[in-house]
Amino acid sequence: MTTIGITGASGPLGRATTDFLLRAVDPRQLVLTTRSPQALADAAARGAEVRRADFADPRTLATAFAGVDRLLLISTDAIGARLDQHRAAIAAAAGAGVRHIVYTAVPEPVPANPALVVADHAGTEQALRESGLRWTVLRNNLYAHMQVPVIEQALASGRLVTNGGAGATAYVTREDCAAAAAAALTQDGHEGKVYDITGPEALTAADLVTLAREIGSRGIGGREVGARNIELVTVDDAASVAGLRAAGLPDQVAQLVTSFGAATRGGFLATVSPAVADLTGRTPTALADVVRAALK
Ligand SMILES: NC(=O)c1ccc[n+]([C@@H]2O[C@H](COP(=O)([O-])OP(=O)(O)OC[C@H]3O[C@@H](n4cnc5c(N)ncnc54)[C@H](OP(=O)(O)O)[C@@H]3O)[C@@H](O)[C@H]2O)c1
Repeated sequence: MTTIGITGASGPLGRATTDFLLRAVDPRQLVLTTRSPQALADAAARGAEVRRADFADPRTLATAFAGVDRLLLISTDAIGARLDQHRAAIAAAAGAGVRHIVYTAVPEPVPANPALVVADHAGTEQALRESGLRWTVLRNNLYAHMQVPVIEQALASGRLVTNGGAGATAYVTREDCAAAAAAALTQDGHEGKVYDITGPEALTAADLVTLAREIGSRGIGGREVGARNIELVTVDDAASVAGLRAAGLPDQVAQLVTSFGAATRGGFLATVSPAVADLTGRTPTALADVVRAALK
């Protein structure tokens, strides 16, 4: 019986992947590792084993990964500081006898890509290739639900501000990322493969404006909402950072969001791939459907 482990299992992606796996395999095949085991009492009650693991405390990892055959290594949220965490997890997994790691990365982790998360993911992909283990990389595009507040803001202000120029992003739902991860963990034949996990289409900021106008003209919950005539405002990276800071975002977040805009402008997030459908048999959900459902 293959044992499947998930790191970071109490996060939203870990939970969604667990839900798919609980429908596909015997719960006793699942080992869920997290910094907060108490948060996974529900999964434990369903028969999965929950263990404590913290990549920042490598002493926890050998026990956490013992007996696991295939491991979903969910990238942590410690951007800029997580490469050492991921390396520690890969080394501990190899030491504990894990045979195959599935890793959640970012599209096009190449030096020219200005997204601030690239270095961590490129370094982790390299560590996997050098680990001697089998590996699969799932390069998840940007989550679709993160555009809901962007559209809400556009409706409230009448402006949609972007530093992404005419670039497009192939937004994907977290649910589709989880379905793809569950498939990569339960099926054979994905060793040594890199998959772009994307939605069904790549959308520009102008497409988001069109969507916001549609929602504005029909209203939300039967009520009129703010502006119907939404203007697309294109700014450079410096103005993007300044605007996001002025809106109350911490500097690091403003820099991160702006770097994704720059990556969009450079075409690094535009690839649409058939991987979600190929891996899972499900049609990936469109961003417009996510936004329309959230703003009914
Ligand atoms: N594609 C996108 O648009 C997008 C957006 C946001 C994030 N991400 C990436 O995808 C990952 C999963 O995201 P999510 O959607 O589930 O939301 P999230 O809230 O950002 O998840 C954070 C994850 O990091 C784990 N983590 C943090 N510190 C850790 C440590 N020291 N050791 C082990 N695990 C640690 C958490 O696990 P526990 O709390 O269970 O330990 C949790 O799984 C993120 O960590 C980030 O790398 C992608």
